[in-house]
Amino acid sequence: MEKNTATTIVTANIASIVSGTVALLLASTLIQGVAGTIGVNYGTVANNLPPPSQVARFLLESTIIDRVRLFDSDPQTLQAFAHTGIAITVTIPNDQIPLLTNLTFAQQWLNTTINPHIPSTNVARILVGNEVLATANKLLISSLVPAMQTLYKALVSESLNHQISVSTPHSLGILAASTPPSAGKFRQGYDTHILKPLLSFLRSTNSPFMINPYPFFGCSAETLNYALFRPNPGVFDEMSKRTYTNMLDGQLDAVFSAMKLLGFDDVEIVIAETGWPSVGDLGQVGVDAESAAEFNGKLMQHVMSGVGTPLMPNKTFETYIFALFNEDLKPGPTCERHFGLFEPDMKPVYNIGILKHTAESTFPSYPTPVSTPPAAPAMSPLPAGGGAKGKQWCLPKPEADDDALQRNIDYVCGLDSEYCGAIQEGGVCFNPNTVRAHASYAMNSYYQAMGRNGYDCNFAETGIITNVNPSYGRCKY
Ligand SMILES: *[C@@H]1O[C@H](CO)[C@@H](O)[C@H](O)[C@H]1NC(C)=O
Ligand SMILES: *[C@@H]1O[C@H](CO)[C@@H](O)[C@H](O)[C@H]1NC(C)=O
Ligand SMILES: *[C@@H]1O[C@H](CO)[C@@H](O)[C@H](O)[C@H]1NC(C)=O
Repeated sequence: MEKNTATTIVTANIASIVSGTVALLLASTLIQGVAGTIGVNYGTVANNLPPPSQVARFLLESTIIDRVRLFDSDPQTLQAFAHTGIAITVTIPNDQIPLLTNLTFAQQWLNTTINPHIPSTNVARILVGNEVLATANKLLISSLVPAMQTLYKALVSESLNHQISVSTPHSLGILAASTPPSAGKFRQGYDTHILKPLLSFLRSTNSPFMINPYPFFGCSAETLNYALFRPNPGVFDEMSKRTYTNMLDGQLDAVFSAMKLLGFDDVEIVIAETGWPSVGDLGQVGVDAESAAEFNGKLMQHVMSGVGTPLMPNKTFETYIFALFNEDLKPGPTCERHFGLFEPDMKPVYNIGILKHTAESTFPSYPTPVSTPPAAPAMSPLPAGGGAKGKQWCLPKPEADDDALQRNIDYVCGLDSEYCGAIQEGGVCFNPNTVRAHASYAMNSYYQAMGRNGYDCNFAETGIITNVNPSYGRCKY
């Protein structure tokens, strides 16, 4: 399946918060425990999704999701996540893998696809293809590791290799054996020819091995409780003498055992995708919103708890839930179109504690997007004088022109050069070197210094107050 993933849903009491139409009960206590580690797959096989700018803003303002994996490297989407701080993983499609073995091509790809968006967009990882071994395409498979190595070289040539890592996600189809977990091993042929060099590359570049484990696809009516983290008798592994209480641990440990067999048990494992659908076909057992909330909620709790797995104790796992949205154009059975945490109008399908507590009062109700998505305003006006709680910032209005913004820069920087140090050449906010970006910084410096009165952000009606922190990289507003 084309997948998407999300990470982190933690819920204290799933049963009490799951209901057909979702009350916004928000578990602020949970947020603290999981801060910094919630990933979601932002798939877009749909014709009714909101524009990326709205999605980025929604994730930033209303959820605790702070990692997003894209299935492409769409420029509009990368632009939308600028100044959000959300860690973005982009994916290079499988068909480009052979081309990427050409260093010039890889450099040009970086130059045109990634460079225009950094550092304002926090691009943290590039995935070379998705489930490439499952394609059974010899050219793609044999090009995979060389493509990753070449892309890495291109990153090194731009000094981006410490900031952006390179990996590729796999389905569990790479395993020849997975039960018991301690007997996990990779398929013969792939093990030494592809996975060993791949793991060696990942180790030397300090990048994770990424997998897409789906207990949903591995379970039957008999193993439903085991798959859903519900009470169950457990599964005893005779070889390791460990007892497994949930299927995900078994899948992770099978992968770990296979890696260990090749001598790579030190490479981190990242869950690039996992999830559970909320709607299925008639008669499908365990496919409903309650089960989906239970799986995703307990998943997040489990991967973040630090308990780890029987063979990998005391570990947390970076995890990306599949998926952010229900995607109406996905082919296959009904459940494929219902893996989303959210409907396209951003209403939660069920609640697992990923909404910010402040979202209760400010939860957006976006209009159903039409075929030409409206340009989302970069920020919304707030009443002056602290009508909203929390810190606020002053930025240029989207419609303000560069001449007016330059006047604002000249005014503020003329008052006190301290306001503008960071936007001088060599300063941490110099890039992007545009009038708008520099005006943002200068106008906000003034607004903060003057005490954040509404009128301090007026600037002849070219300023607007926002509660979205515009800081990016080392540039702190
Ligand atoms: C490598 O890529 C560049 C840029 O796309 C292209 O001009 C060149 O012909 C490629 N080289 C080979 C050997 O394919
Ligand atoms: C990268 O892009 C810049 C301009 O955007 C161009 O001058 C430079 O030649 C490009 N480098 C490569 C390797 O494509
Ligand atoms: C895991 O943590 C527990 C409790 O803190 C500790 O007793 C145990 O030694 C740890 N195990 C490993 C392998 O670090």
